[in-house]
Amino acid sequence: MARNIRKLPKAREPAKVRGALYRLYKDRKGAFVRLFLAEEEVALGDSAAAPLLGANLIRRASGGRYAANVRIWKIKGKFIVTDLFTYTGKLRIYPVFVDESDFLAQNLFVERGDEVLDIGTGSGVQAICCAEKARMVVATDINRRALAFAGFNAKLNAVDGKIKFVYSNLFENLGKKRFDLIVSNPPFMPVPQEKSWFLHGSAGYDGLDVVRRILKDSKKHLKPKGRLQIITHSFGSLEKIQALEFVKKYFPESRVQVIHVLSPKRVGVEKYFAVFSDSEGFDDWKKFLEKNWLDYLYRVVINIFPAKKFCLEEIQNGKLRFFLHESFNQKPFMVSPYYSGGWSEMIRRYGDTSAFFRGEKP
Ligand SMILES: C[S@@+](CC[C@H](N)C(=O)[O-])C[C@H]1O[C@@H](n2cnc3c(N)ncnc32)[C@H](O)[C@@H]1O
Repeated sequence: MARNIRKLPKAREPAKVRGALYRLYKDRKGAFVRLFLAEEEVALGDSAAAPLLGANLIRRASGGRYAANVRIWKIKGKFIVTDLFTYTGKLRIYPVFVDESDFLAQNLFVERGDEVLDIGTGSGVQAICCAEKARMVVATDINRRALAFAGFNAKLNAVDGKIKFVYSNLFENLGKKRFDLIVSNPPFMPVPQEKSWFLHGSAGYDGLDVVRRILKDSKKHLKPKGRLQIITHSFGSLEKIQALEFVKKYFPESRVQVIHVLSPKRVGVEKYFAVFSDSEGFDDWKKFLEKNWLDYLYRVVINIFPAKKFCLEEIQNGKLRFFLHESFNQKPFMVSPYYSGGWSEMIRRYGDTSAFFRGEKP
């Protein structure tokens, strides 16, 4: 059942909320997972429930049980609150998918003392994971709901003092500020029309609209030795990753590291994007994709470092056993049992989702 909860999380006593989440996670991991990841109703004692109720993270259900208003992911010892999978609003807060937000957060190139910019902060997961080492982080979004969730998450994880949240369309409201590290997990879904997908994914006909703009303008906001780190989908052929063409264009003097999060897959456009088959303009869009190359899909982290001349280094991750397309072909994918059932079982056994994908034993 779709649950578009309107109340935002409230961070009046974040330390108490954090304590309640830690206790629940530590003492009753199964209940934590069922409540916040499998979206099941769970019985909780009054003292366990009170701080979570006060923060709008849960609500009362029937028979003395409670239901979650949000998903809560545990990553790198932090709790990150996002919307439920069943939230269908276009301003949905992006989940902490293990082959994306989670993967980037585990592989951040942040150094002690850095000034960091996180573009499209969503839940704030990257900004929060950078904040430990960074001197300060600026985190932007054009979704005010996202800025509210990210602000809550920063308080929940006690790093709000280091992060400044700014409403900004990419670099628009940042003035001339320059950073040591720019990090982004931008929207990268090819879509037939802006309105046909969530704001967090919608990225134009080829899925690279936002990535292109970030690559084009980043230099103006990087310090001389600044680094840029982007995770993205990119179509391409077996020989070339389309997104890298723009990296070469805008960063001709750089060392570029490409981490392949998932091995490239040959994708039938129609099959993969079945989710858009009812959208206006689908046929033209499909023809565009078919005519213009695109039958391999890459999921990559692109790290760009300053250098004297262009050089490219490719790294196969090889550790993620996640298979995107199985879940993606289901419609709508965000309520797929693959995600909820599969993940909850994983977390029940492994703790953090990422531990499973790193191949650690429970
Ligand atoms: C894929 S989500 C990533 C969220 C989060 N950084 C993460 O790693 O999970 C992309 C985010 O970019 C935001 N966004 C989309 N277009 C944007 C723009 N032009 N400027 C800033 N943020 C944007 C969306 O609202 C969304 O929160």
